[in-house]
Amino acid sequence: MKRLHGKNILLGITGGIAAYKSAELTRRLKDAGADVRVAMTRAATEFVTPLTFQALSGHPVHTELLDESSEAGMGHIELARWADAILIAPTSANFIAKLAQGRADDLLSTICLATEVPLAFAPAMNQAMWNDLATQANCKTLRQRGLFQFGPASGEQACGEIGEGRMMEVPELIDHLADCFEHGVLQAVNVMITAGPTYEPIDPVRFIGNRSSGRMGYALAEAAREAGASVTLISGPCHLATPDKVQRINVETAEQMHKAVFDHLKECNIFIAAAAVADYKPVDAKKQKIKKDNESLNLVLERNPDILSDVAHSKTRPFVVGFAAETENIEQNAQSKLQRKNLDMIAANFVGQTENNKQDIGFNSEYNALQVFWANGSSTLELTRKSVLARQLIQLITNHYQAHKKDEKNTA
Ligand code: PMT
Repeated sequence: MKRLHGKNILLGITGGIAAYKSAELTRRLKDAGADVRVAMTRAATEFVTPLTFQALSGHPVHTELLDESSEAGMGHIELARWADAILIAPTSANFIAKLAQGRADDLLSTICLATEVPLAFAPAMNQAMWNDLATQANCKTLRQRGLFQFGPASGEQACGEIGEGRMMEVPELIDHLADCFEHGVLQAVNVMITAGPTYEPIDPVRFIGNRSSGRMGYALAEAAREAGASVTLISGPCHLATPDKVQRINVETAEQMHKAVFDHLKECNIFIAAAAVADYKPVDAKKQKIKKDNESLNLVLERNPDILSDVAHSKTRPFVVGFAAETENIEQNAQSKLQRKNLDMIAANFVGQTENNKQDIGFNSEYNALQVFWANGSSTLELTRKSVLARQLIQLITNHYQAHKKDEKNTA
């Protein structure tokens, strides 16, 4: 099968002599099965005309942010949503700097800021510009945010100099892009993820719940799926669409979540507990609605099963990753949960407003930041969208899972 069959690829082209190679790239992307739309910066149109790309892609080329006719056709937000991936090739030093700063002053940079899909950039510039510390620092920032950097290659440059900075060749660009969809690092691996809140009934109309939206767990399900895993998502009540090709099982209470997890545990290789499970439930959930007869009401609560701990202590346990939602002493509390619950890894997040920017993160937010701990190490995943963070966490989990499998093999 063609490696990009059925994929919507937005090809971004910025100003540089390598823009002439983007014509060939457009053709080859189509040959690989992709539907290609092209967005060009003004500088790019100085090198190659939009008409060339219109003819090759079969679609009008997008160049202006504030253009009534193109916004009426497919505006920048729709383009950002339409794409399954964005590839910017060539990417100039200036555009890399713009991306690193999060600027949105033309169509392409605005699309990049508005998108949540994998974003790849292929640097192409003079070798001195490439080696400049500012460019290097900007590329590092982009990689840390989860963008894919393709190249550059080295060799003779259009300016006559020799060195690193040439745009990666077209076949390699296509291979790398296809890898973003099917890098398959988790192919043939079954991943089970819990997500969302649990609702513990008090009576038929009331429950004890929490502020979890499910976004973190759903983003992880999508990222694991992208990495090639078969994903089972055990979801508490939340209003999110099920990610493509993910098996979702709906539950309401902690006990139901516990049962669903154990029903599917046999096939599971990696278990990730992102759900905010109620620690306690009412002892005696009433069959009828409680009447307002008394001035006060006492609810007696009892402990729910700890799903994560039970999985991690089970006989044939998978690789187990827990979460820790903390409002203080993040590291200390996370380390204690890592040991007490017998986990391989734990991803700790601060829940509430950060002191620095007063932005809500963690619960019910598009954003999060994580400190991840394991037996003899840790890693910090900086504040970003949950979709980006999820890909970074899945990559980290994958690295540890593979090392763990190797160790198991060696000691067998
Ligand atoms: O859903 P969002 O709005 O996107 O928010 C994401 C999140 C903040 C809910 C998520 O990032 C997160 O931190 N999830 C874990 C929340 C939590 O319940 O943390 P905890 O520290 O109380 O529990 C520790 C771990 O034990 C968690 O992995 C939890 O899933 C698990 N647990 C807890 C209690 C229980 N009875 N069973 C469990 O499995």
